[in-house]
Amino acid sequence: MAQNKIIAVVGATGAQGGGLVRAILSDPNGGFAARALTRDVNSPKAKALARLGAEVVAADIDDIESLKRAFKGAYGAYCVTFFWAHLSPEKERVEGTNMASAAKMTGIQHAIWSTFEDTRKWVPLTDNRMPTLQGKYKVAHFDAKSEADHVFTDLGVPTTFLLTSFYWENFIYFGMGPRKGPDGKLAITLPMGDKKLPGMSSEDIGKCAYGIFKRGREFIGKTVGIAGEHLTGAQMAAALSRVLGKEVRYNEVSPDTYRKFGFPGAEDLGNMFQVNRDFEQAFAGARDLKFSRSLNPSLLTFESWLTQNKSRIPLE
Ligand SMILES: NC(=O)c1ccc[n+]([C@@H]2O[C@H](COP(=O)([O-])OP(=O)(O)OC[C@H]3O[C@@H](n4cnc5c(N)ncnc54)[C@H](OP(=O)(O)O)[C@@H]3O)[C@@H](O)[C@H]2O)c1
Repeated sequence: MAQNKIIAVVGATGAQGGGLVRAILSDPNGGFAARALTRDVNSPKAKALARLGAEVVAADIDDIESLKRAFKGAYGAYCVTFFWAHLSPEKERVEGTNMASAAKMTGIQHAIWSTFEDTRKWVPLTDNRMPTLQGKYKVAHFDAKSEADHVFTDLGVPTTFLLTSFYWENFIYFGMGPRKGPDGKLAITLPMGDKKLPGMSSEDIGKCAYGIFKRGREFIGKTVGIAGEHLTGAQMAAALSRVLGKEVRYNEVSPDTYRKFGFPGAEDLGNMFQVNRDFEQAFAGARDLKFSRSLNPSLLTFESWLTQNKSRIPLE
């Protein structure tokens, strides 16, 4: 019997990587094995992955030697960075470079790089409709990821560039869930106007990535985008109202108001939503729903995700 192809998964105890590890393990005859990378092989999350059947190995994306050890002997690598852990685009670019270099040095045959568009192709730094951040970015956590794309290409790593979408889990963990306004009514607040935001369950990112690995070389050298649904703020509020059984409104604010909310990364997110809103066609167009479903037939819609997760959405 042919040996299973090992996929080394960065961020395995987190959202994207965790979804991929579980997708691989739930398909025991799929021809792949999951190697879960973590900084702490003894953490409860790492141990849970080992119990599910993953090989759990230590690696830190800031330490290229540890990445080389962890990628060795693997067929594939899922590469993702963690902007929200440090808010540093420079660090993200270095980490992307570390993973590309380790993939090259260990002969990885298929890397998936979880990246984003360079938003400066739509809004150049000279364009004042939104502020330039840290001197050279419009959306730092998009632009810096994109800046690392060429490292994979230049080194000749066989890579699929994966454009992901807004996690609906942000309504659970990121403080974006329904909140009571001054009128006492629940509302979600987004600066999206009446435009559609591509979103998905973060677990589905891993399932789509698994679909990409299963399709062999088909997407190597290509950029592919995924989403579960494209929805306006009003549509998301209506779905929340239906599933939660209480009225949730869409509180539309301007990107400028959003940028001034003051939480860490608010300016970056305000710019991101503004790009999503003003370049809806290009942004949503790059994240085709039929294509996503072809990679992952169990892809969730917002309403089906909400039905599964409604008890986890904190309500005031
Ligand atoms: N929030 C959204 O809506 C959204 C949407 C699309 C894309 N994104 C992007 O998703 C990325 C984050 O991915 P995620 O949500 O899957 O992350 P996550 O759920 O926060 O998972 C992070 C995991 O990665 C590991 N990790 C953190 N720092 C590490 C390091 N230096 N070396 C190795 N492992 C490290 C941690 O595991 P251990 O502690 O076990 O090492 C942690 O469990 C961000 O860059 C963000 O821009 C976010």
